[in-house]
Amino acid sequence: MIVLGIETSCDETAAAVVADGREVRSSVVRSQVDLHRAFGGVVPEIACRAHIETILPVVEQALARAAVRLDGIDAVAVTCTPGLVGALLVGVSFAKSLALAKGKPLVGVDHLQGHIYAVRMAFPEISYPCVSLVVSGGHTSLYHSRSEIEHDRLGATTDDAAGEAFDKVAKILGLGFPGGPAIERAAAGRDPGRVAFKRTIPDSLDFSFSGIKTAVLYRVRGQDARRPRLLTEEERGDVAAGFQEAVVDVLVEQALRACGRTGTRRLAVGGGVACNGRLREKMRARAAAEGIACWFPPPIFCTDNAAMIAGLGYHLLRAGRASGLDLDAVPTRFHRA
Ligand code: KG4
Ligand code: ZN
Repeated sequence: MIVLGIETSCDETAAAVVADGREVRSSVVRSQVDLHRAFGGVVPEIACRAHIETILPVVEQALARAAVRLDGIDAVAVTCTPGLVGALLVGVSFAKSLALAKGKPLVGVDHLQGHIYAVRMAFPEISYPCVSLVVSGGHTSLYHSRSEIEHDRLGATTDDAAGEAFDKVAKILGLGFPGGPAIERAAAGRDPGRVAFKRTIPDSLDFSFSGIKTAVLYRVRGQDARRPRLLTEEERGDVAAGFQEAVVDVLVEQALRACGRTGTRRLAVGGGVACNGRLREKMRARAAAEGIACWFPPPIFCTDNAAMIAGLGYHLLRAGRASGLDLDAVPTRFHRA
């Protein structure tokens, strides 16, 4: 079954063609980072307009690269939740129109489940149950996954998402947008112990990152957050390294605790922050020490893409979960996934 996937939940317009849920024939991602950089974050109105302009060429490019015509597609999968409502609506409306015009099945896909599925798509040997950690710009959540399409939430952030904290701290440090890669570059080669930040680790499997973010703000700009940023490059690197280390430690601790509490020896990590080299290194080392198998997808499938949406769409369709033309864009996440 060949599925065309469409993803427009935030600031990437993406389309992909995937066969049988796993063979990626094409994956096109048009990032809007250059449009949002001047604002230091994603501006919803700009994101929606850009999706409208780019969705058609991106879908055409995905079809061309896969050497398939629309008639050769068996179904259309589209991200319908969570995300910016106007951005989601562009993809959902486009996918519905295609499905209606071509008489193809349509399936709405949860973006977070898509990030979880990206790990499985890269490593089909992962079996269930497994613990899934999604660390992205909008979410930081742990799940007990029973299949590709069944995920019970174990915990989630009670304030900022990990990626959001990276983006905000990069802004405080004047490192630019998007913050994750900028922090990782600034931290490279610096001693993470030189500027240490307190880790907030709840007893539950939830997360909290706003305290670390505020601690960075006070450290850099003083207790009233008004002092001008007068850090040398080395000092900025040390703060970036200390912050990154604190966030990584919290993610590692909670993910392994989730494995322990559920008695699961498998851990899948997805979402944009899963690109982070220090997170990969520490998570792998700790997991190995505890006898837990741990998987991270290649970076292009950690950040937003439509291949994971097409891939998961295949499994939803096989489970009889096709959507009707009344499919709606839902900005907030579902509770169970
Ligand atoms: O999954 P994603 O592409 O979009 C959302 O669904 O949110 O994740 C984007 C987030 C951003 O916050 C970005 O700063 C973060 O992932 N990110 C990273 C790295 N690369 C991207 N965070 C830490 N280290 C990285 N190397
Ligand atoms: Zn995402």
